[in-house]
Amino acid sequence: MNICIIGTGYVGLVAAACLAEMGNDVSCIDVNPQIIDRLKAGKVHIFEPGLEPLVTRNTAEGRLTFSTDLAEGMRDALFVFSCVGTPSMPDGSCDLSYVDQVATQIGRIIDDYKIVINKSTVPVGTADRVKGIIAEELKKRGASVEFDVVSNPEFLKEGDAVNDFLKPDRVIVGTDNVRTAKLLETLYAPFARSRDKMIVMGVRSAEMTKYAANCMLATKISFMNEVANICEAVGADVREVRAGIGSDRRIGYHFIYPGVGYGGSCFPKDVRALIHTAKSYGCAPSLVEAVDAVNNRQKGMLAEKIKRYFKEKGGAQGKTVALWGLAFKANTDDMRESAALDTIRSLTDAGMTVKAYDPVAGDNARKILKDNPSVAVMDNQYDPVDGADALAVVTDWNQFRNPDFNRIKNMLNDPVVFDGRNLFSRSFMKEMGFLYISVGRQPVVGVERRL
Ligand SMILES: NC(=O)c1ccc[n+]([C@@H]2O[C@H](COP(=O)([O-])OP(=O)(O)OC[C@H]3O[C@@H](n4cnc5c(N)ncnc54)[C@H](O)[C@@H]3O)[C@@H](O)[C@H]2O)c1
Repeated sequence: MNICIIGTGYVGLVAAACLAEMGNDVSCIDVNPQIIDRLKAGKVHIFEPGLEPLVTRNTAEGRLTFSTDLAEGMRDALFVFSCVGTPSMPDGSCDLSYVDQVATQIGRIIDDYKIVINKSTVPVGTADRVKGIIAEELKKRGASVEFDVVSNPEFLKEGDAVNDFLKPDRVIVGTDNVRTAKLLETLYAPFARSRDKMIVMGVRSAEMTKYAANCMLATKISFMNEVANICEAVGADVREVRAGIGSDRRIGYHFIYPGVGYGGSCFPKDVRALIHTAKSYGCAPSLVEAVDAVNNRQKGMLAEKIKRYFKEKGGAQGKTVALWGLAFKANTDDMRESAALDTIRSLTDAGMTVKAYDPVAGDNARKILKDNPSVAVMDNQYDPVDGADALAVVTDWNQFRNPDFNRIKNMLNDPVVFDGRNLFSRSFMKEMGFLYISVGRQPVVGVERRL
C-alpha cells in the first residue's frame, strides 16, 4: 500500500519505518530540510532503540523515501498520516498550528481520494476542524475531491517505540465510515497477527481515548509520588508499600514507581490540554488538575532536598553537584519537560554548579543549557563526580543502577548521593558508607565500610 507520513519525529519516523517493514511504500515528508537531508544520508536524527536498522534497511530496499515536497509524497498515497507536533500553548491548550498547516497544504494539493489520518495527539473536535480546513481549500480551488479524516492516535512510548508500534496493545480508529475502517484494518493487519487489535469507534471518542489514557497514566504517577512524600513524613518505605499494593491485581505493579515527576513530550502537555478542553466545555477537571499540580511540585523535590542538605551544612552557594541523567526517562535523548531541567535550574539559581552526564542526551542538553554558565555537560559518567560535593541521579538509565560505588566514594568530596529514582538499596548504600537520600524512604547514613 502507498502511504505518506507527514512529520518525521519520534512518532512519524517510527510509524514510517514499521509500515515500510511490512512491505508498504512509505514516503516521509518533513518541513525541516536538515532532517530530510540527514535521513537521505542514512542518518537517523533521534535516538530510538532499533530504529536506525529499520530505516536503513527499508531505505536501501526502496520502500522508504524522504522529501520536503508534500505533493510528491502524496501523489500515489491512499493513506496520509499527519504526525506533526502538538505542543502546549502558554494557557495549557494544545497548539494546533502545525496540524492546521498540514491540513491547509493537503487541501491545496489533494486531487484524488485520500484517507487523512490524525496520528498526532489532538483535542476532541480536531478531525472535524481538519476536514473543514481541507474542504475550505478545495472550495477556494473550485475543486471537488472525496476524502476522509480519521482519528488514529498513537500509543507508542519513547525508548521502546519500535517494539510498541510493531506489537501494539490496541489500534484505535475513530471513523464513522465502514469502508475506511476496513482499509485501515488491512493496513494494520500485519501488526495484529496474534489477535484482533483494532477498536473502531466514533472520531470524538478516539480523540478522547488518547487523552484519557495519558491522564490515567499520569494520575498513577502523581498518586504514587504523593504516597511517597507521605511515606517520607510518616517513616514508611514506599518500595515496601508499592510491593504491598501492587500485589492487588486491581492495582498492579505497573506505573506506580515514585520518582522525580513525569516529563517528556506527552504527559505534561496532554494533562494540561485535557484540563483546558474540559474547562472550555464547562466541566471541572479537579482530579486532572491535582495530577498536574502534584507533578509540578514533584519536579522540584530533588533540588529542594539537595538545597536543604547543603543549607544545614552551611550553604549551597559554590557547591558542585554531579548529576546523572538529563533525558526525561531512560532510553531516549528527549529532554522535553525533563525533571533534570527543573533540578538544574533550581540548583544553579541557588548558586551551585552542576556537572551533568547522560548516555545519549548530552548534545541536546548542551544546546538547551548553553545560556546557563553554571552547567557543564560531560561525556563520561564519572567525570562529573570528580571533586563534586554530591551525586544526584535523575534518570533511570540501566548503566546507573550498578555503578562503581568505591570509585564514586573516592571521587566525591563527601559521600553523599541523592537518588530521584530509587535505583539503589538503602542497606547497601549504608554499608558502602554513603549518606543516601531517595524518594519515599528514610535517609540512611553510611557506616563507613567498603566492599
Ligand atoms: N513522542 C511520543 O512518544 C509520542 C507518543 C504518542 C503520541 N505522540 C504525539 O504525536 C505527535 C508527534 O509527536 P513527536 O514526538 O513525533 O513530535 P516531533 O516534534 O518529534 O516531530 C514532529 C515533526 O513534524 C515536523 N513538522 C512540523 N510541521 C510540519 C509540516 N507542516 N509538514 C511536515 N512536517 C512538519 C517537524 O519538523 C518534526 O520533525 C504529537 O501530537 C505527540 O503528542 C507522541
